[in-house]
Amino acid sequence: MSKQFDVLVIGGGPGGYVAAIRAAQLGFSVACCESNPYADPKDEPRLGGTCLNVGCIPSKALLHTSHLFAEAGHSFALQGISVSTPKIDVPTMIARKNTIVDQLTGGIKGLFKKNKVTLLNGRGSFVAHSEGGWQVKVGDEVVEAKQVIIATGSKARHLPGVPVDNKLVCDNEGALDIDAVPKKLAIIGAGVIGLEMGSVWRRLGSEVTLLEALPEFLSVADIDVAKEAARVFARQGLNIQLGVTIGEAKASRKGVSITYDDKHGQAQKLEADRLIVSVGRIPNTDGLNAEVVGLRLDERGRIDVDAHCRTNLPGVWAVGDVVSGPMLAHKAMEEAVMVAELMAGQSGHCNFDTIPWVLYTSPEIAWVGKTEQQLKADGVAYKLGRIPFAANGRALGMGETTGFVKMLADATSDRILGVHIIGANASELISEAVVAMEFGAASEDLARICHAHPTLSEVMHEAALACDKRPLHF
Ligand code: FAD
Ligand code: NAI
Repeated sequence: MSKQFDVLVIGGGPGGYVAAIRAAQLGFSVACCESNPYADPKDEPRLGGTCLNVGCIPSKALLHTSHLFAEAGHSFALQGISVSTPKIDVPTMIARKNTIVDQLTGGIKGLFKKNKVTLLNGRGSFVAHSEGGWQVKVGDEVVEAKQVIIATGSKARHLPGVPVDNKLVCDNEGALDIDAVPKKLAIIGAGVIGLEMGSVWRRLGSEVTLLEALPEFLSVADIDVAKEAARVFARQGLNIQLGVTIGEAKASRKGVSITYDDKHGQAQKLEADRLIVSVGRIPNTDGLNAEVVGLRLDERGRIDVDAHCRTNLPGVWAVGDVVSGPMLAHKAMEEAVMVAELMAGQSGHCNFDTIPWVLYTSPEIAWVGKTEQQLKADGVAYKLGRIPFAANGRALGMGETTGFVKMLADATSDRILGVHIIGANASELISEAVVAMEFGAASEDLARICHAHPTLSEVMHEAALACDKRPLHF
């Protein structure tokens, strides 16, 4: 007789492990299977998915180390601190990153034990619908579950003519394990990974060139933020070429040679020591046997779901990168909690309008809600408050005066429609805007809230006041 569970979660990333834990908290018997693609010394399933193993966490560890290196090299002297020229020991930096990853992936195993979630080692693939729900093959055994949550995530998109070996030509996985500072680093795609990993290696001394297909820089961000970011990154020495068409990349003992057409259609060749390919991600549906059970995919190969993450199959849900929406860990986790609560008959909820975005560059970039260009395109009348960090005492004390907060509020109701930050600690500051928007707050509400002094959060306060043309310190 096969193992039986109330809920089987396929995939142990942020969407999967959070769904499993929340479902177990709600009283379901839960198993989670993980196909374990990440090297583990004991050959055990490693939980945490892309995010913990080869995404959010390791990239932020490298960003932190390289930020300290850049501060020691450039900013300390401005504050009267003299240190000898800093040197980077890349293997130590990578080992530290790996220790953090191990600690966190191991921690999720502990959370599974605490919540009595059964961990199954193996790829999950649908076999058939049965009286008891769904039969799913995991490794060599078939398990049966009344409900299934698919959280199989995504993998790096590669380009034809640019073979990835994760040594000289890397996607996000190899990019997090580069073992020495490349003299010249090329990156295809100036999106989130390109800018974050480009920043890491630029700070450590690489000459970095980013080749981006789109004619506009960072077009997902608010137009003013994108302009400021382009200016700041150019000053930092990131060479960003827009409007290119990639030909091919060839790796040899000498490095990597990339051919492309520039924005004028002129043929160009770029020689580099390493190449990172970061041109987006594709949903992981391989091996699920979607076609056997009739699981519907959308035109982009993602699992087709409604606003509550229900698929077309009864009792089968899907969350995270494998469905539509931004490919972000916190979005996957929100959907996971929503699904577990809906399964338990509760009113699970996920507000897709208040999912924040963060780029962990320096300065950081963060936003939530609509951009100014979206409001213009939608014909919405809005008010705008924009305050530079240079007008804030704490920012001056920290030497972090670059950037601004820009708040957009409805011209009639004053409801906050979008907040866009480029500046120090934007990743933390954006939470205030998320809370405000989640509760439908007006800019006047934020303007009337007491903000501690001196803090960077006062820039948020002033931006709210500026929506009503009454900033106090600018
Ligand atoms: P995943 O994390 O991809 O997990 C899916 C899991 O399912 C994997 O472990 C996989 O092995 C497993 N699996 C797949 N198929 C099967 C199967 N058939 N059976 C069993 N198991 C299976 N997001 C942020 O919010 N903030 C960041 O700072 C951030 N930084 C990132 C940096 C990088 C370099 C990358 C690549 C991504 C980053 N992301 C970030 C995105 C984030 O990692 C993803 O949005 C998030 O991991 C998605 O979670 P998920 O659970 O949907 O999928
Ligand atoms: P991305 O979608 O952010 O950027 C890809 C870039 O590559 C785009 O600018 C695109 O125009 C460009 N591109 C596509 N095809 C190209 C081609 N043929 N030639 C040149 N340029 C091309 O994707 P990225 O950076 O790979 O990251 C994947 C996802 O991972 C992100 O969208 C995000 O969801 C997640 N992520 C989130 C982070 C965060 O929250 N801080 C950090 C890193 C990744």
